[in-house]
Amino acid sequence: MSRTILGLLLTISTTLAAELVLPSELFSPQVAQKVLATANTVQNPAKYPQWTDRDKGTWQFFSPDTWTSGFFPTTLYALNERLSICPTDELKATDWLGLAQTWSSAEVPLETKTTTGHDVGFLSFPFIEELKVHSNNQTAQTAVNSFANELAARFDPIVGCTRSWDTTDPTDFTVIIDNMMNLEVLFQSANLTGNHTLIDIATSHADKTLVNHLRPDGSSYHVVEYNSTTGKVIKQRTAQGYADNSTWSRGQAWGIFGFANMFKHTQNLTYLETSRHMAQYFLTNLPGDGIVPWDFNAPLDPPRPADSSAAMIAANGLLLLSQGELSLSPANKSGSDFYIDSAIQIIANMTTLAWRPEWQSLLANGTVNNPALNNLTGIVYGDYYFVKNANDLVSLGIATCNGSLTGSTPSSPSASVSGSGSIPSASSTDGVRTSSGAARSVQGRISGLAVAVAVLGGLVL
Ligand code: GLY
Repeated sequence: MSRTILGLLLTISTTLAAELVLPSELFSPQVAQKVLATANTVQNPAKYPQWTDRDKGTWQFFSPDTWTSGFFPTTLYALNERLSICPTDELKATDWLGLAQTWSSAEVPLETKTTTGHDVGFLSFPFIEELKVHSNNQTAQTAVNSFANELAARFDPIVGCTRSWDTTDPTDFTVIIDNMMNLEVLFQSANLTGNHTLIDIATSHADKTLVNHLRPDGSSYHVVEYNSTTGKVIKQRTAQGYADNSTWSRGQAWGIFGFANMFKHTQNLTYLETSRHMAQYFLTNLPGDGIVPWDFNAPLDPPRPADSSAAMIAANGLLLLSQGELSLSPANKSGSDFYIDSAIQIIANMTTLAWRPEWQSLLANGTVNNPALNNLTGIVYGDYYFVKNANDLVSLGIATCNGSLTGSTPSSPSASVSGSGSIPSASSTDGVRTSSGAARSVQGRISGLAVAVAVLGGLVL
């Protein structure tokens, strides 16, 4: 056994030291109450919440063509889904689907613009959700196809990627790791139209990204600049991270999700291995308090801000990765359990830190853009993935609607999983605050060492 493997075994098995917990806030009635209160805020002309102020957690609203505008309507679709999987009287009292459709409507004209840029994947989310409910909805189909075509038009066959930011120098072709999240709209549109070119574009973009955005240790560059004439890499750097050679945690989280999603669509094991590799970096570089920092390499002094949005995105990516492990033949049950448990622990740690009953957002401690000093806020996509994580935990049979873990994947009763059940004092993050939410726990889902061994079977080292 190599020293790398031994080191990783030790790291993982020593962090898997206490009981696994789900925060009660995940299924709190306040989730729906807060989202409904925001939905009932009339914005004329239409504007969408993106982040909150730092003091009172009041939403700041932005125009429909902002890259984040799809997340609030998609959160409303998620609560419509919650209504069907956890039909409480309180949820039944609201027409979540109607609200979601109303809040999506101001995004419809965007599909006819060619200036929306590269973030069309995020903007398409509400329409993808609408098609899950009404598969023949023409408006939603048109929106998905238009957004996909807009993204396809940003594909350069020499570079092999879709272009992110538009630059004054047309040969300078930037690609950000975030754009792995765009690829879903290409698959959705290919499914509607049978246009396989869209899948070829998604595959090419992912293949180039895994070669040029990932480092050997599974960490990622935020930005890769290519020369569009030669297709060669000019520079690997950051925009929202701490340094060019650091790892911006939200970018890493987008990558975990994005490659797990590529595996879901293609069953290409390289994508599963890439998602595992990025997850391995994310999990083994968490600080002792388990709180996701805004950048894994940001200095500890002064205390670095956390990013609750990166935590919620990563947790959702780990849940998706867990399903990829289960889809293997034979299923990698141990690996799947490990990623589920890791997701739960991240959600628990971050919820304890960031849940804010008195704020309009669900969570605080989001870092929008630390170099621009936009941190310690609520963030609409952090809240969306918080809601989605709860839904997915129920849909996957991992949790019940009252927030208990089902314990459906038990193993060693003496073992414990993943980090500490309580959050240690802040050693590495700023703005730490504990919540009053009582957490339930299940014991002994998996032995820490067994988890490490099982996971190592599938890790790229
Ligand atoms: N896609 C931009 C961000 O994650 O901040």
